[in-house]
Order: sequence, then C-alpha cells, then structure tokens
Amino acid sequence: MKDPIRFNSKIGLIAATVGSAVGLGNVWRFPAEVQANGGAAFLLIYLGCVIMLGIPVMLAEFSLGRAGRTDAVGVFQKLSPGKKWWLIGLLGIIASFTILSFYMVVSGWTLEYLVESLTGNLYRPDSGSGEVNFGEKMVGYVQSDSRPLLYTYIMIVLNVGILLGGVRKGIERISNWLMPTLFVLLIVFCCVSLSMPDAGAGLKYFFKPDFTKIDAGVIVSALGQAFFSLSLGLGVLITYASYFPKETRLVRTGVTVAVLDLFVAILMGIIIFPVVTSFGITDGESLRGGTLVFVTMPEVFSHMSGTQLWSTLFFLSITVAALTSTLSLGQVSIAFLQDRFKMSRGKAVALVLLPLIPLSTACSLSQGSWNSFKLAGYNLFDLLDNVATNYMLPIGAILLCIYAGWVFPKKTLTRELTNDGELKGTIAPAIRWCIKYAAPPLIFIILISKML
Ligand code: TRP
Repeated sequence: MKDPIRFNSKIGLIAATVGSAVGLGNVWRFPAEVQANGGAAFLLIYLGCVIMLGIPVMLAEFSLGRAGRTDAVGVFQKLSPGKKWWLIGLLGIIASFTILSFYMVVSGWTLEYLVESLTGNLYRPDSGSGEVNFGEKMVGYVQSDSRPLLYTYIMIVLNVGILLGGVRKGIERISNWLMPTLFVLLIVFCCVSLSMPDAGAGLKYFFKPDFTKIDAGVIVSALGQAFFSLSLGLGVLITYASYFPKETRLVRTGVTVAVLDLFVAILMGIIIFPVVTSFGITDGESLRGGTLVFVTMPEVFSHMSGTQLWSTLFFLSITVAALTSTLSLGQVSIAFLQDRFKMSRGKAVALVLLPLIPLSTACSLSQGSWNSFKLAGYNLFDLLDNVATNYMLPIGAILLCIYAGWVFPKKTLTRELTNDGELKGTIAPAIRWCIKYAAPPLIFIILISKML
C-alpha cells in the first residue's frame, strides 16, 4: 500500500487552502461589489455571511473530507455506501470543471497583462504618438482571438506542470512560495497606495457606509461572493481536507483561511481605491470588476512614476492568486480519477486538463469572434460563469449542508471538529446548528431569488 497523501506541514496546508480561496474573486469582484453596494454596509453583511454560512459550510467540507479521506465522490460512497449521496460530489466535479474553463481564460488575460507590462507594450500607443486608450487596448487584446488563446494555453501548461508534481511536491510546494510572495506584494502595494495624496478620500469612497443600498439583491450578492471567494460548495475543500493530518484543528484552520481571504479582499480595495481616486477616476463604469483591473489600473499606473514596475508587480500578484485557485479546481477532478479509477497521476492530469483545451478555447473565442453565438442571451463564457456560480455552487452547498447536518452522524462531525474530543471549549455545537438549520434554508432563499 502506498502511503496516504498528506500535506507536509501546517504552513503548507494553510498556504494551499488559502491559495485556493484567494483568487480572481478577491481581486476583481470584491472591491467593485463593496463600492457599488454600500461600502462598509456591504462589508458588514458580507462578514455576517462569512461567519454564519461561509465558515460552517467550510467546516462541513473539512469534516467530510477528513472523515472520508478520499476524493469528493468517494467520500460520500465511503460514508454512505449504497446511497446516491455521491451525486453531490459528481455535481461538484462537473461544476469545478465548468468554472475552470472560463477561469482559465481570465487567468490567461492576467498573464498577458503581466507580460505586456514587463515588455512595456501595454503602455505604448498603438498608432502614432497619441495617448494610450486602455479601454481600446483591452478590447483589442480580448477580442484578438489568438493572443488570449495563447496565454490561456500557457496557464493550462503551467497547471499541468505543477499538478504533475502531486499534492506535496506540486501544489503545496508552489503555494509555499507563491502565497507569501503574494502577501508581500500586496502589502508593498498597500503602502504605495496609502501614500498617495488623496488616499483618505479613496478609503472614504471605498468604505463609506450607505445602508440605503442594502436590499435583498445585495444580500444575495454578498452570499454568492462569500461562497465563491471561500471556494465552497464544489468539493474542493473536501479534497484538500482529505490531505489534512489528524492533528489539524479544523475550526482554527477554517477561521484562519476565512480571515486571510477577507484580509486579501479588503487589502485589494485599500490598494485600488486610493490610487484610483487620487487620479480622479470615480465614474461608475471605470469601477466595474474587469474594467477596474484591466483598464482603470493601467490608466493609473501610466500616470505614476515607475509605471512598468508597478504594473508588472500588480499583474504578477493577480496571476499568482489566479494560478493557485486553478490548481485547486483541477485537483478535485484529478483526485477523483486517481482514487476511483486507480489512474496514475500523469494520466489523470492529462484527462482533466486536455479536455479543458477545447472548452477554454470556446470560452475565450466567445469573447472574440464567436461573440454573436448566444445561448439564452449569454455568450458561452458568461453562460458557464452564470450557471456554475449562481446555480451549481449554491445547490452544491445546500446538498452538502443537508448531508453533513442530517445524514452524516453527529458523533463523527463532532469528532472531526474537536479532534476526537481533544479540543475543549470548541464551538462545535454552534457550527453544527448553522450547518443543520441555518445554512440550507438561507442558501435556498438566495438560490431562488437569483432565479427570479
Ligand atoms: N475562490 C477562488 C476565487 O476567489 C475561486 C475558486 C477556487 C473557487 N476554487 C473554487 C470557487 C471552488 C468556487 C468553488 O477566485
């Protein structure tokens, strides 16, 4: 028998899990959502969602993963043999694959912007001596078909390279390097941003509470954002938790991951808004997620000294954040193929990432020359994003909570949360209550309101 796979160290385990959580969701969705939905008022609601629902769902996934010690489908087959609960895991695998197909494309854009910053091309006017129009540049890049494809493929190859190394030598080792680098970069950026002349105004703009903006739709957004950002509902964390050693304190780990994820999200807002307002950009359109990152920030960098350096570092941080998230999304399916079908790692990696090539290609082209091809009013990219994020993710999370709260033995859940009773004074009962009674109906309401 081969040794079961475990993360090597506590730090590595946190780095990998935080690596999964911290991604494009933190970078381009969060700051824009906070600003548009009432600043600190949204932040409070978001915080409530993370504490009441996010952390409990995360702990449900952790407990299932560590109790079952296998892939996201196998966990359910092992814990409830002969029942259909494993379909939850299968849904997760399909959803993670779906997310991966468009997420990889956006990761490709960030890599392209990193390379273009490094070479300085991003800041060269396309024709003559005129000013650079970053909006046009972005449209040009995204719609040029071949370039985004090239960078999407490079991201896929990077994923293959790392995932072939396995959990310890691939995911854990790379996260151990990348996550601290990311944090250092973000803190440097934060200092730069706060030293801007108009930093105070930017922070006010970001945080200013406006409770009149809070309505049902905003609460729905806050929860969707919390789930996406914490990588919940798809079995990603079940898979990662199956590599947790038995000494890992699940509650503490979950809280650490959630706090670091929130920290990065808020840091991103603190980085972006002071620089943006210092350059007088406050119109709504410039502050939307994708525009903010790919148009507004380059615009700001172009007015700063050290344009290329800051721009390169900024896109480097985003690419790093995106890469560690794609690794986790890929690992769900790889673990499934390896555990269920006893496949070698190489074969499993190939089987997961090769089909991604045509899918990501279609997603990427759907922003370019295939844009006129629409299903239900969406191009393929937006359709997959919408279906996976707004439907598959909450459905997965509800089913997970129902399983963990009602089917999974209470004793086992408590055992996992308290490390076999070793940890005293834990909040296990409160968490169990949230998983069992609070989470399923609340997520259901959110799911329904998204459908209306
Ligand atoms: N959490 C990542 C982000 O914020 C994306 C992600 C990785 C994800 N794994 C996931 C989202 C699993 C949902 C489920 O960008």
